[in-house]
Order: sequence, then C-alpha cells, then structure tokens
Amino acid sequence: MAFSNQQANVYNDTVVRQFAIMTVVWGVVGMLVGVIIAAQLTWPELNFGIPWLSYGRLRPLHTNAVIFAFGGCGLFAAAYYVVQRTCHVRLFADKLAAFTFWGWQAVIVLAAITLPLGYTSGKEYAELEWPIDILITLVWVAFAIVFFGTIGTRKVKHIYVANWFFGAFILAVALLHLVNSAAVPAGFWKSYSAYAGVQDAMVQWWYGHNAVGFFLTAGFLGMMYYFIPKQAERPVYSYRLSIVHFWALIFTYMWAGPHHLHYTALPDWTQSVGMLFSLILLAPSWGGMINGIMTLSGAWHKLRDDPILRFLIVSLSFYGMSTFEGPMMSIKTVNALSHYTDWTVGHVHSGALGWVGLVTMGSMYYLIPRLFGQKQMYSVKAIEAHFWIATIGIVIYIAAMWIAGVMQGLMWRAINPDGTLTYTFVESVKATYPFYVLRLLGGVLYLGGMLIMLWNVYKTAMVGRTTHVNIPAAAAHA
Ligand code: HEM
Ligand code: HEM
Repeated sequence: MAFSNQQANVYNDTVVRQFAIMTVVWGVVGMLVGVIIAAQLTWPELNFGIPWLSYGRLRPLHTNAVIFAFGGCGLFAAAYYVVQRTCHVRLFADKLAAFTFWGWQAVIVLAAITLPLGYTSGKEYAELEWPIDILITLVWVAFAIVFFGTIGTRKVKHIYVANWFFGAFILAVALLHLVNSAAVPAGFWKSYSAYAGVQDAMVQWWYGHNAVGFFLTAGFLGMMYYFIPKQAERPVYSYRLSIVHFWALIFTYMWAGPHHLHYTALPDWTQSVGMLFSLILLAPSWGGMINGIMTLSGAWHKLRDDPILRFLIVSLSFYGMSTFEGPMMSIKTVNALSHYTDWTVGHVHSGALGWVGLVTMGSMYYLIPRLFGQKQMYSVKAIEAHFWIATIGIVIYIAAMWIAGVMQGLMWRAINPDGTLTYTFVESVKATYPFYVLRLLGGVLYLGGMLIMLWNVYKTAMVGRTTHVNIPAAAAHA
C-alpha cells in the first residue's frame, strides 16, 4: 500500500481507511436521496411515474443509506481505529476485518438494488429481506470477533470508556437484529414476521427505539469519548461520570420503545412504562453531553479557530437538544399533538443531522488526514465552510419541520363550536407547502457541505499519495 509507514506495521489502518472513505461517499449518496424525497414531498410529480423512483421506495433507501451506510461505515472506521489505539495492539484477525468491509458494502449495494425494486419486509429501519438479513448477521458476528478479539489481546490493562460504548453498540445491535428480523421466508425476496399483531408492533419498536439508542447514539458516544479529548488535547472532563453515563444510558434505553406506540392497541401500562423511562433518559443523555462539552474546560478558545472541534462540540449541543425534545414528545399528551406530524421528522433530523452527522464529520476530519499520512486536511478553510453551511442547513431544516409539525397538530385538532372539524386534511397539506420548500433548501445546504467534504477528502488522499509524511506510531497512541 502506498501509505505504508511505521503505523501500518503496528496497526491495521487499511480497513479503517476504507470505511472512512466510504462514510463520505455513502453520506453524499444517502443525503442526495434525502434531498430527492424532500423535493418529491414538495413536488410529487418528481417521481415521473416510474415505480423505482416512487416516494415509498426511495424513503427507506434514504433511511438505510444514511443510517447504515453513512453512519455504519463511520462507526466501523471509528471503532477499528479507536480500539487499536487504546489497546495498543493491532486489530484481531485482519482477514475477518477485511470481510466486514466487503460484506458491509455488499449489504449496502443489495439494499440499494432491492429497495427501489420494492422488496421490503415493511418493518421500519429493518426493511431488508431475509437473505440480506443473514449476510448482515454474518458481518456483524465477524465485527464482534474482530472488536472483542482486539480487546481480548490488548496490551494495556484498562479498557477505555469509548470501547465500552462501541462494545455495547455491537452487542445490542446483534440482539436487536436477531430478534426483530425473525421471519418465515415465503420465497427468496418475501417473508412474514415471526410475530403477529400487537406483539409485532412491540418488538418492532423495541428494535426501532434501540436502533436510535445503540446504532445512532451509543456508537457515536464512543466516537465522542475518543475524538473530543484528542482534538481538544484535554482528558475527558470526568471519567467517573462517563462510567455512570454508560450504565445508566444502556439500562434505560431498553425500556423506552413503547413511546412510539402511544394510543395504540398496546396495553396502556406498557405505554406509561415507555413514557417513564423516556423521561428518565434525559438524565444520562445530558450527563454524557455535559461530560463531552466540559472536556473543553480551560480550552474554550480552541473553538475559535478549530473547525473540527466546532463540529464535535456543536454535535453535542444538538444531541442535548434532541434528547430534551425526545422525552418531552414521549409524554402522552404532547405525543397526542406531535405524532403523525412533521414535528417527529424535525426531532429525527435534529438528532440525525445535528448529532450523528456532525459528530461523524468531525471524527472523519480528524481521522482521514492521519490515515493518509498527513498532519491535516488539504483545506482547513473548506472544513470551516462545511461547518457553517451544514449548521445553517440544519437550523433551516429543523425549524421548518417544528413549525410545520405544531401547525399540523393544531389544525387537525381544531374544532368548531358545533363539533365539526375546522380544517380539512388537505388544507393542512397546503399550509405545509412553504415549509417543505424550506426543508428542501436546508437539505440542499447540508448536502452541499458534504460535497465540499468529498472534494477535500479526495484532495487530501491525492496529496497523501505523493508527499507521504511519517507519523510515529507512538504519537498516534491514546
Ligand atoms: C432521550 C432521548 C430520546 C427520546 C426519549 C426520544 C423520544 C422520541 C419520541 C417520543 C418519538 C416520537 C414517537 C412517535 O410519536 O411516533 C421519537 C421519534 C424518533 N426519534 Fe427520538 N428520542 C430521543 C433521542 C433521539 C435521538 C438522539 C435521535 C437520533 C439520533 C432520535 C431519533 C428518532 C427517530 C429516528 C424517530 C422516528 C421514529 C419513526 O417513527 O420512524 N431520537 N423519539
Ligand atoms: C441532506 C440531508 C437530508 C435530507 C434532505 C433528508 C430528508 C428526509 C425526508 C424528506 C424524509 C422523509 C420525511 C417524511 O416522511 O415526512 C426523511 C426521513 C428520515 N431521515 Fe432524512 N434527510 C437528510 C439526512 C438524514 C441523515 C444524515 C439521517 C441520519 C443519520 C437521516 C435520517 C432519517 C430518518 C431516520 C428518517 C425517517 C423519519 C421518520 O420516520 O420519522 N436523514 N429524511
């Protein structure tokens, strides 16, 4: 490999580099599909009457691409990089690690083919049909062997807290996937869930909420606990808090799923348990956020001229915002207004664009130059531009969805003195139109930032190929 330096002999960075590059590539693809569906919601004719381009098929393509391809590749890259540095040992089983890369890419490509063709299990965030589910299982088992194998062969006694979060993410996702995807095949691309009726809904949202908790949160907290201290050159604010944060978060998340099923056939007490645990969840979530942000104590000035640190710290502000909003939305009376409206979509994207997106981008900006033997990205100005364009995009997107959502909720419940509805449904759709245009604008900005990142990564890789700088392995240790 062109980047063979001292580090390469110690660590397996090939697989980290592959995953890091694909994070950026899939980010562009997934967000482009997001922009297309945002445009379709504004101008429905944009499906051109072609079934493969219909909203119902592209929407799951978007969610799968951004969560599992963009987010997933970022998590693989970060987990593999961090576990080697913090355990002072090379990744366990190089070949198996390579299998996780190619296997995961195969899953993504299969998803990109089957979803537009209309093959789906109909379970949100678990739409892929059973043959792909089996491949996911194989890749995930390999991931677990590589990760825990590395932990098992570590040369330092202590297991750094970031690895606890990555480990919990790997184990919990394995459990969620196995339980929720249990199905009876009825042909190669068709299956029926192993569960029926309300149990099916319960299992699905136990999965769905923990996909948020463990895929979209725990793994990214692992990133946060490694890359913020590294970039800020400061130790974690409170190591003790990080341990309390870990146990409290993973225990609480597991019980909150029923808040997705308020006012349904699910027994009422189950809904209340979901609501209660969602409210409790505010505490560990904010504990973690505070721990991350306070790591900057004494180094606040760094935010002024370090755009990577800005990505990481602002991501935590969005994390705090969405984990305040989530518990509020889980209160039954609030949910009576927010459910089915664009408020939910606003909440999702304040977490997804603000937290998951920004923390991944910040971490990749830290990682990518190092993976190409460089001290920094090709253009720091471009990172700066990316930060501002993305942040403005997020604010436009989520503000538009909040206003639209609350408006829809209020319009749907408004009644005249004689008891009839004040507004027809289509009137609420018409009133939402300007907000869909705004959301599209926010999305285009966010995608624009990602394109700048792609260009910057390409340039950094090209420079890395020609002018290779050696970074001693010791300097890269935690
Ligand atoms: C304390 C933390 C959180 C709580 C208690 C929470 C709670 C909620 C609630 C009550 C809903 C609405 C359910 C409905 O009416 O259908 C929801 C939806 C959602 N949240 Fe959160 N949330 C939290 C954090 C987050 C974060 C950080 C993210 C993203 C990174 C996120 C992603 C989502 C997604 C994707 C949905 C939509 C699910 C769907 O219907 O497809 N949440 N959340
Ligand atoms: C350019 C950026 C993006 C745009 C324009 C965009 C747009 C959209 C649109 C239009 C929807 C459908 C909303 C609806 O059905 O009413 C959606 C859903 C969703 N998006 Fe995005 N998105 C973007 C980025 C992301 C990212 C980076 C993530 C995750 C990391 C994400 C996660 C989701 C999820 C989980 C849903 C389902 C929400 C639900 O069921 O309530 N999106 N997105």
